[in-house]
Amino acid sequence: MNIAWGITGAGHFLKESYDVFRTLAREHQITTFVSSAGEEVLRMYGLFDKMGEISNGEYLQELFLESCSGRSFSKTGRFLLGKYDALIISPATSNTVAKVVHGISDSLITNAVAQTLKGGTPAHIVPVDVSGTLISEMPYFIDREMCEKCDDCPPREKCPKNAITDQINLLKCDGCGLCVDCCPHSAIRGGFVECRVRDIDAQNVKALRSMDGIAVLKNPNEIPSLF
Ligand SMILES: Cc1cc2nc3c(=O)[nH]c(=O)nc-3n(C[C@H](O)[C@H](O)[C@H](O)COP(=O)(O)O)c2cc1C
Repeated sequence: MNIAWGITGAGHFLKESYDVFRTLAREHQITTFVSSAGEEVLRMYGLFDKMGEISNGEYLQELFLESCSGRSFSKTGRFLLGKYDALIISPATSNTVAKVVHGISDSLITNAVAQTLKGGTPAHIVPVDVSGTLISEMPYFIDREMCEKCDDCPPREKCPKNAITDQINLLKCDGCGLCVDCCPHSAIRGGFVECRVRDIDAQNVKALRSMDGIAVLKNPNEIPSLF
């Protein structure tokens, strides 16, 4: 099957989505569409350089980045031409869900959803902000209370991306984690953060469920059973 995968800028469910699509790629052709925020977050979690394992660049297995797409998103015309059997957005940020629910299609991913529905192909969306509270994994950061500001800072010197000064530049960091092991004061870590889902986001997910042509999934692990 030809599957279109849309990635937005959510850290939550990102690794789970990656693992699911890496498995699906053994049997199906996956074209990946990535929002600009999605591209940044993929890098922060160390997944961007591994995207070739899912979308190797061949026809119908390309990696389309919003940052290289212009503003009219011509590649989403493929959905009108019936090139894909399904579009799956996983994970979907509260921002993208809000836009879809309100019929906005001014980004690569929301435009893909719009063209998918216009072309009569099913769309499946895995929203992250559904209800209650979420526990999300954070990118690496420097704990200022532990950092001793060493003159010869091993993480800064060894970082292959030159991403470390007095903080970690997350637009350069590729999440390799080398810095965590070489800091003598254990001042660099990732960890988890708890956040409350806003009422507006929960309402938008409810509205998403009632939209024609869209199926809402609870978890990326539900994706394989679609095929
Ligand atoms: C590390 C990181 C993790 C994020 N995780 C989430 C998330 O889980 N859910 C969410 O709605 N937004 C999250 N965001 C914020 C979105 O990336 C931001 O709202 C962005 O504008 C979404 O754009 P997009 O919907 O076009 O991808 C995160 C941002 C960062 C830097």
